[in-house]
Amino acid sequence: MREFQSKKDVMIIGGMSTTKIAERFGTPVMVTDESALRENYRAIYKAFNDKFPTRINYACKANTNLSILRILEQEGSCIDAVSIGEVESCLRAGFVPERILYTGVSVSDAEMRAVAERRVPINVDSVNQMHRLAGMNPKHPISLRVNPDVGSGHSQKVVTGAKGAKFGIPKEEIIAAYAEAIELGFLPRGLHAHTGSGGRDPAVFGRVTEVMVEIFERIRSELGLKLEFLDIGGGMGIPYRPEEEIMDLDAVAAEVASKLKGSGVRTLVIEPGRYIVADTTVLLTKVNDVKSTPVRDYALVDAGFNTLIRPAFYDSYHPVAVANRFGHAADVKYDVAGPICESGDYLAKERMLPRVQVGDLLCVYDVGAYGFAMSSNYNSRPRCAEVLVLDGKASLIREREKVSDMFRHQKVPARLRE
Ligand code: LLP
Repeated sequence: MREFQSKKDVMIIGGMSTTKIAERFGTPVMVTDESALRENYRAIYKAFNDKFPTRINYACKANTNLSILRILEQEGSCIDAVSIGEVESCLRAGFVPERILYTGVSVSDAEMRAVAERRVPINVDSVNQMHRLAGMNPKHPISLRVNPDVGSGHSQKVVTGAKGAKFGIPKEEIIAAYAEAIELGFLPRGLHAHTGSGGRDPAVFGRVTEVMVEIFERIRSELGLKLEFLDIGGGMGIPYRPEEEIMDLDAVAAEVASKLKGSGVRTLVIEPGRYIVADTTVLLTKVNDVKSTPVRDYALVDAGFNTLIRPAFYDSYHPVAVANRFGHAADVKYDVAGPICESGDYLAKERMLPRVQVGDLLCVYDVGAYGFAMSSNYNSRPRCAEVLVLDGKASLIREREKVSDMFRHQKVPARLRE
């Protein structure tokens, strides 16, 4: 959880008053601090690259805003993309194809062809997919994704590396898959795995690296193929709750590097999404109503799970503050809930906050990863605006949707128009 300053009781982000941002751009609005983004990128790059030559493939599923992609392109990041939409977003943001690695699951021929035509390397998820790609271009740059039988994650829903998960080629079949790749004419460049997202155990990264180094060495000794890179995926967690500790990146990197030493691996690839963007962004949301029930008190705001689904979907915790009475004594317990017509719609439960009034501005922290990216139009609510702040200046980086935008792709058959 990032520390924020205040001025005359108003929370500040990137040198800007949160109440001024809310007045100027409306609410709900997600506000990203550009300096924090650059800092996070540099911190994770340095932690790993100081210990082993490392390429960062930012997992852009966390946040594909073009301005955020531009900043990371400037910083020298590369990309983990999972769909043609993400590939196109990154190309548009200025990434050259070699800086993108496409890692899809359940990949259609049409999507794979589109990715291949854009000369973006493909990380193959199954032997079947590899055969289909060979039919298109057996010289296309590929790597293979293994299911390492090492899983982690903040929720069962995001564990990807455990045995039986739908991702990758089972570890027992991976050597045969490389042999087949070579037979088909490919020259595989790397090996990939991803254990899961937001786990908090640093030892997992060492374990998965160990499994992968063993596979790397078998590929070299049994097939005579020397891969260029090992990609251990993303999953570096951040502390969302105040009592959680920050993940010691230096320790994680040292653990991973110790397993790679002397292995012949030239480049380590990591795919952090959350670590780079999560704490760069806050959600500002206005209090529409305050309600006391015999059981609990509610602060009812203008953002619900249409805007931030993580609490409702994963029971995730995001810190909340009253931005216009920042640092005041917290003496009332609230559930913070939104305008969606389901009782599962909430942003925070049982939080002690200063007494809240209609018109107050609440700030929900750490929404930069999987915040906007997972937002929806449920209940026909337009998606929120996004703003970038730097040195006391704010720029709109995504317009708030309008109700009319939601009609854009709908067609009403002539017979229903009368
Ligand atoms: N690489 C691969 C292949 C992935 O599938 C993912 C995330 C990442 C990298 C990045 O993981 P990260 O460093 O961000 O943990 N919506 C969920 C998270 C889903 C992550 C899916 N895959 C959430 O809001 O927590």
